[in-house]
Amino acid sequence: MSKKVLGALFGAGLAAMALSTGAFAEEQKLAEFHVEMNGGCDSCHKDGSPSADGEYEFQQCQGCHGGLADMDAVHKPHDGMLKCADCHAPHDMNVGQRPTCEACHDDGRTPEKILGK
Ligand code: HEC
Ligand code: HEC
Ligand code: HEC
Ligand code: HEC
Repeated sequence: MSKKVLGALFGAGLAAMALSTGAFAEEQKLAEFHVEMNGGCDSCHKDGSPSADGEYEFQQCQGCHGGLADMDAVHKPHDGMLKCADCHAPHDMNVGQRPTCEACHDDGRTPEKILGK
């Protein structure tokens, strides 16, 4: 958990919950985390409804986080190939949950091996 994320959680008033459960953000979906932090569904969806192809949402992710080409070695090779939500499904995955590779690669690669940590 980065300091930035911690800061955002404190800002959202979730720190008390995090500290009392000790389990932290594991219990919060990525979408809910963004809704509370950035003020609503519209931070990702146009007028609160999902687009048919996910392109609008992908543009929103990049508007705040930057594009795949400017990220680390796990992200870079997927530039032009994937959208963020192909790996970080906002309504299915929890904050702090690390996407895996085996849905698409069957050679046993992991983010840890690619990043050398
Ligand atoms: C962090 C960005 C983000 C936020 C915030 C967000 N969504 Fe989504 N949502 C997505 C993406 C991306 C998809 C495409 C499907 C997927 O990968 O989960 C999606 C899919 C959906 C779907 C289609 C069904 C499904 O689960 O696939 C609905 C309905 C939906 N969102 C409603 C909402 C509502 C209502 C809110 C506010 C409470 C919200 N979303 C907040 C990113 C977001
Ligand atoms: C191929 C799957 C994949 C795609 C596509 C992907 N990510 Fe990731 N992402 C990961 C993995 C694995 C990690 C954890 C390892 C790392 O930091 O690279 C991660 C980490 C992150 C983190 C850091 C979380 C933390 O712990 O601080 C952010 C933020 C993030 N991704 C945002 C994005 C955004 C925004 C996009 C689209 C522009 C995106 N990711 C696309 C797999 C993916
Ligand atoms: C309005 C700006 C904004 C939008 C839009 C946005 N994010 Fe974020 N996101 C943030 C901020 C701020 C944080 C917390 C600080 C950080 O980790 O960079 C965050 C955190 C994250 C994290 C790290 C959470 C963790 O597990 O530690 C991931 C992954 C992530 N966002 C993915 C996405 C994806 C995927 C989308 C698009 C579907 C998206 N974000 C859209 C601002 C945004
Ligand atoms: C949703 C599908 C999907 C997921 C999940 C995924 N990838 Fe990929 N990956 C692709 C596609 C598509 C390409 C481009 C075609 C190719 O080169 O095989 C690619 C290419 C790559 C490449 C460059 C080519 C190669 O095979 O060396 C690397 C490195 C890579 N991915 C690492 C990862 C890692 C690490 C993870 C897990 C964090 C991951 N991928 C998860 C779809 C995915």
